[in-house]
Amino acid sequence: MKNFKRYLVTSALPYANGPIHIGHLAGVYIPSDIYTRYLRMKGVDVISVCGSDEHGVPITLKARKEGVSPQEIVDRYHTINKKAFEDFGIAFDIFSRTSNKVHYETASDFFRTLYNKGEFIEKSSEQYFDEEACCFLADRYIMGTCPLCGNENAYGDQCEKCGTSLSPNELIDPHSTISGSKPVLRETLHWYLPLDKYEPWLKKWILEDHKEWKVNVYGQCKSWLDHGLQPRAVSRDLDWGVPVPVEGAKGKVLYVWFDAPIGYISATKELTPDWEKYWKDKETKMVHFIGKDNIVFHCIIFPAMLNAEGTFILPENVPANEFLNLENDKISTSRNWAVWLHEYLEDFPGKQDVLRYSLCANAPETKDNDFTWKDFQARNNNELVAILGNFVNRALVLTNNYYDGKVPARGKTDSNDDAVLKEIARIRENVESSLEAFRFREALKEAMNLARLGNKYLADAEPWKVIKTDPERVKTIMNIALQITANLTIVCEPFLPFSMEKLRGWINFNELKWSEAGKTDLLITGHVINKPGLLFEKIEDEDITKQIDKLLATKKANEAEGAKTAPGKDVITFDDFTKIDIRTATILEAEKVPKTTRLLKLKIDTGLDIRTIVSGIAEYYEPEAIIGKQISVLANLEPRKIKGIESKGMILMAEDKDGKLVMVTPADKVSNGSMIK
Ligand code: 2FM
Ligand code: ZN
Repeated sequence: MKNFKRYLVTSALPYANGPIHIGHLAGVYIPSDIYTRYLRMKGVDVISVCGSDEHGVPITLKARKEGVSPQEIVDRYHTINKKAFEDFGIAFDIFSRTSNKVHYETASDFFRTLYNKGEFIEKSSEQYFDEEACCFLADRYIMGTCPLCGNENAYGDQCEKCGTSLSPNELIDPHSTISGSKPVLRETLHWYLPLDKYEPWLKKWILEDHKEWKVNVYGQCKSWLDHGLQPRAVSRDLDWGVPVPVEGAKGKVLYVWFDAPIGYISATKELTPDWEKYWKDKETKMVHFIGKDNIVFHCIIFPAMLNAEGTFILPENVPANEFLNLENDKISTSRNWAVWLHEYLEDFPGKQDVLRYSLCANAPETKDNDFTWKDFQARNNNELVAILGNFVNRALVLTNNYYDGKVPARGKTDSNDDAVLKEIARIRENVESSLEAFRFREALKEAMNLARLGNKYLADAEPWKVIKTDPERVKTIMNIALQITANLTIVCEPFLPFSMEKLRGWINFNELKWSEAGKTDLLITGHVINKPGLLFEKIEDEDITKQIDKLLATKKANEAEGAKTAPGKDVITFDDFTKIDIRTATILEAEKVPKTTRLLKLKIDTGLDIRTIVSGIAEYYEPEAIIGKQISVLANLEPRKIKGIESKGMILMAEDKDGKLVMVTPADKVSNGSMIK
């Protein structure tokens, strides 16, 4: 393994248009904080940078909805989120923001460098324009019907119903979200990063040189690279963002995904005048902590930008996590299906470490995972209280009772003592190798194994019994138990910083050096410890019931909202109706569309022909399970290219109250091509 001189840890810049929830913590910020705390304890040169991502259409839309300026929105959430991170001990060296001056300068310089080097393609194309509002409609400023699932409220960049990323010209019946009017197509000039040009280099850099990346990250990159990269527009027609810094670009700003990752550079610049050593010296190990939806931006697009610029280093690793669900349902801001950090702290004051612990123990490291309040309670009561808290309490209370808080001398050890001492010596290695491999769940388990070891040791040695017959022996037992305690303050620190600070206070031990872990003489004979409090407290059933009830109320409210039958549409003429050609068809083949999670490519027999339709139903149907199924198809819908596949028609789906899509199948088998009228 290469030894690096210093580390640069970046954590995805959260959008400043909403508060942080447990999904953000579990996916990005807890792992990055654990890793950074560990590195700091190792004494290496490390900085951890983050900040608010303050551009992008969702922010301007929120501002418009509330009738305030975008700046007001980002000021609000920047403050809220900065505080939430501090409250949970997420110890960035800087939490910056992309609306500040340094960032504008840095992002503009970056663009200008690429522009001057001729790295962009400058291209005019037709894009939707709102004639009433007099502006182009980027991304979420345009809505329409999703060509894949029929959702009438799909955005120009994504359908939130089926999760497919779209481009505005794929929408059916597009309309402006500003004026509601039907947009027209107009020529507009934009700058494109020719990702295809970097494809061979990216293939080598990722697929050959970074085989050690996490399977989920490597797999996603491979799928993108295998299917070929296309030039990507890096500018937008908007009035909120970093202005495109070249002549003739009035009214154009940098695309939010172009400027946001440059935010890592600006944040470093703001932190230290010595920023270049973190970004331009190959002896720096840069690690990006992100969620899985950010993989392509951090592994493909940003590296291509850095490579094009030419003077910056590239990430050594991008340990992206998958998603965390909540009580078996996707976390969703719009459905209020989340545990918000500020609300958690109101209900569980002072229990930051319990959440940190349960989110790390249950982190979505290799697959999506579920957070449940019952699991949270069990992690606290059965692990933090029963294992860690119990051991520490016994060790400290007995030392106070027997020796007035003075660490007793270790006398002659027996074979069991020796085995335990040996095990302590191995603990650092165990935790360290897991942390270095970004396996944080495993690392936490290893750290907790030390407390397990301590508990077992005390339970086997029974000092509370032996004290009556062999008080000398108890001195040795308690000395060893105290060495375990001191070791715990080190190896548990990255995971449980609030509790370990308390514990260090109780044992008067402030050696926060990783290299001390594993030593068996951390507390010398005669060292005085204090009276302990309780490290963790039991969480009662009623506390959990309260949280579950809160979620049930949310579910009910959402169901009531969804249960409202969609309003009827305008009357159409019989002539209009006869234009619609709906047919029965049979699915012949079905497979997932690569690089997407929700799309299926279906080959169907419509009786008229055998054709391909792409449909956003992968979430509801397994491809193998629908082969042979008879369905209904809107057969004369204008063909569209979706993910490079020509899709001819639309599979008709009924949308259930909870948003689930169900295929519309004839009640009895009929021949393919039967007209539905
Ligand atoms: O997905 C998100 O929340 C983005 N705001 C992350 C940006 S990460 C970086 F590139 F700034
Ligand atoms: Zn859709």
